[in-house]
Formats: sequence, C-alpha cells, structure tokens
Amino acid sequence: MLSYLHSFHAGNLADVHKHSILAWVLAYLTQKEKPVSYIETHSGRALYDLRSNDAQKTAEALGGILHPGVRPWFLSDHPYQRVIAEVQRDYGAHMYPGSPWLASRLLRPTDRLHLAELHPTECAQLRQVMGGRASIYGEDGYHLANRLCPPTPRRGLLLVDPSYELKTDYAIDP
Ligand SMILES: C[S@@+](CC[C@H](N)C(=O)[O-])C[C@H]1O[C@@H](n2cnc3c(N)ncnc32)[C@H](O)[C@@H]1O
Repeated sequence: MLSYLHSFHAGNLADVHKHSILAWVLAYLTQKEKPVSYIETHSGRALYDLRSNDAQKTAEALGGILHPGVRPWFLSDHPYQRVIAEVQRDYGAHMYPGSPWLASRLLRPTDRLHLAELHPTECAQLRQVMGGRASIYGEDGYHLANRLCPPTPRRGLLLVDPSYELKTDYAIDP
C-alpha cells in the first residue's frame, strides 16, 4: 500500500535541484534533431498546487522554489525557469511543474514519453493532466523500464525517482 504523496513535498529544495538538472539535460538532448525516449518510473501527478492543504502542511516549497533567493539562481533562458514561467502564466503563480510536466514541455512531438505511476489516485491525475501527450502506465515503474529497454527511439533518458516506501526501492536489482 503506497501512502507517499509528492504534493506534500513539491517545490522543495530537492525538487529544485532535481528538476533544474532534468530540464537542462532534456534541453541538451534535444539539441540534436534525432528523437529521444523519456521513461519515468515514478512520475507523481505532474502538476502541483502549492496552495493545497498538503503543500501548506509541510510548507517545504518555502525553503525551495518559493524562497526569494532561489529563482535568481537561474537565468531567464534556463529551461527550468522557462517552464515554470509558462506554468505560472497559464495556471497561476501557485502552480508548480513536476518532472513529467517539465519533460512534456521540453520534449518535441517526435519524442516519446513513457510515465509509470503506481498510486491509483496519482495515476488518474497524471493521466488527466498529461492528456494524450504521453503513454501512462498504472504499474510498477521498474517493471515498465525493464520491459521498454532498450527503447525506441534508442537515445533518451530514464528517470528513477522512488519514494522509498517499498523494500525493493533499496535493492540494487529490484
Ligand atoms: C518522489 S515521487 C515522484 C515525483 C516526480 N518524479 C517529480 O519529480 O515530480 C514518487 C512517486 O512514485 C510513486 N511510486 C512508488 N513506488 C512506485 C513504483 N514501484 N512504481 C511506480 N510508481 C511508484 C509514488 O506513488 C509517488 O507518486
């Protein structure tokens, strides 16, 4: 039974770290015209409301993306900054993009996105938010990655971002 919800942690400093590097790597990968595969084993719900009760309860974003000292770390043309600006323009300043959302905004129509999320409610949200832009799988992300690799197209990125709720998350070969 999974109980972790990323909405309690969205936009914290670890997210800023992870998402800014992810955005940079995706921008780098798409410099070449050749299409890429993006596989994410632990996707979460993709879009977070930092005014939600969950987010307010921990207030972790205040030490991350909402900290006045953090946004100036990134130039306005940094891909992470660009996607955040787009999300805020389209959905409001309180919204924050998770990794699947960043990937869907930085990848191109020719690229393939495969997103796994095991938590049923999170997966339903993910499906709704992503529309038809990605293939969504309500299954174990490790199994999905094993099944899809090597992917088509061959070039790409695999993001494994577990919540460490299951013993298998700690195994070297789960
Ligand atoms: C840390 S959160 C993901 C955050 C997301 N990567 C982001 O940065 O926006 C981990 C997610 O993995 C899901 N999860 C846990 N075990 C899983 C598994 N074996 N397969 C797929 N999803 C899993 C949890 O429900 C949770 O939503």
